[in-house]
Amino acid sequence: MAGSDILDTEKIRKEFPILDIEVREGIPLVYLDSAATSHTPNVVCECIENYYKKINSNIHRGTHKLSVDATNAYEEAHDKMIEFVGGSDREEMIFTKNTTESINLVAQAWGLKELGEGDVIVLTEMEHHASLVTWQQIGKRTGATVKYIRVDDSGKLDMEHANEIIDRHVKMMSLVHVSNVLGTVNPVKELSEMAHENESLVLADGAQAAPSMPIDVKELDVDFYAFSGHKMAGPTGIGCLYGREEILEKMEPFMYGGEMIRKVTFDSSSWNDLPWKFEAGTPPICQGIALSKAAEYLEGIGLDNIWRHDNELAEYTMVSLSEMGGVDIYGPPVGEERGGLVSFNLGSSHAHDIASILDDHGIAIRAGEHCTHPLHRVLGVSGTVRASYYLYNTIEEVDKLIAGIEEIKRIFE
Ligand SMILES: Cc1ncc(COP(=O)(O)O)c(C=O)c1O
Repeated sequence: MAGSDILDTEKIRKEFPILDIEVREGIPLVYLDSAATSHTPNVVCECIENYYKKINSNIHRGTHKLSVDATNAYEEAHDKMIEFVGGSDREEMIFTKNTTESINLVAQAWGLKELGEGDVIVLTEMEHHASLVTWQQIGKRTGATVKYIRVDDSGKLDMEHANEIIDRHVKMMSLVHVSNVLGTVNPVKELSEMAHENESLVLADGAQAAPSMPIDVKELDVDFYAFSGHKMAGPTGIGCLYGREEILEKMEPFMYGGEMIRKVTFDSSSWNDLPWKFEAGTPPICQGIALSKAAEYLEGIGLDNIWRHDNELAEYTMVSLSEMGGVDIYGPPVGEERGGLVSFNLGSSHAHDIASILDDHGIAIRAGEHCTHPLHRVLGVSGTVRASYYLYNTIEEVDKLIAGIEEIKRIFE
């Protein structure tokens, strides 16, 4: 299958057995939904199998061989993941369930204690509900006001508006790094600088960025960075939160129970060292270890290469859809930097109708509001169709999507 010029997709696809399935007899899968959940290469599947066959055991509480092996592998997985995002200390890498839990951890452990009347939380109009709903509810509970940086007509943040609303009242800015609808790559570093000048903390939602671009949390100058394993060739049930050590040290625990304590009496408890203070109960041991394998796998291919490949497929899609005519495409235009996804509408056709006709052809795409209801109100549409790409997708698959859309256009016309 023809890939882009950047990755050897023929070789890569052999590592992902699920891509060979037929969704119905004689209809092969064309998977264009990796922004929702990506697929898992053999090396990660084997790691999971190996874990359960060879070292499955609870960690940090045993002196027996299996427990020691599992503990070492789980701790080393933290080392791998902090390195993956450009950090250096294991203390700054907390394993959670997903991006949503990572953001909730900060919102509840930091926000509920630090925010109050008169404080401002800055978000963007393109936030995923994982960030938007979480901070909106923290605002209601603490009395803090939530302000949204506007999205302009080209799908980018209105930086003049950002300049207007980022002032001394802002205590937290939480923004999506790459939009899961528009594909926009937000200027996180520039906005972080503006927020830090006003002594605000900054959290970046990297759910769509960490899987396909090199991340350096120091370079981005963020205080927190959240992402999910299942969108980056890893298993479900594991997410990451990078946090600056000095802030994490001052934060209260997010959840209480075993693992996160140092000493407990009937009257009081003291907390474990970082990062374990934030990992209450038996953590996602196998998932964490497997995620670190996924990170190694992606690094082996090269995050830069994955980024350029995904971009190329997105650009090819945009050009093909534009040439077809009658298609509304959202987000930055061709030629601008954007993530490997394209959201669009076909005239007044309902997004779900398009998705279900494409599914008849084995083409898996997503339709709806993609957990961004307010952004869809800004766009003035009830939903969008989204094709999203990853390292295993090919130009041929995009051609199948385009052929499918052309057919739908003919039917509706
Ligand atoms: C930008 C963004 N943020 C957050 C999330 C939530 O991720 P999860 O469901 O893994 O918590 C997603 C998932 O699609 C996303 O695209």
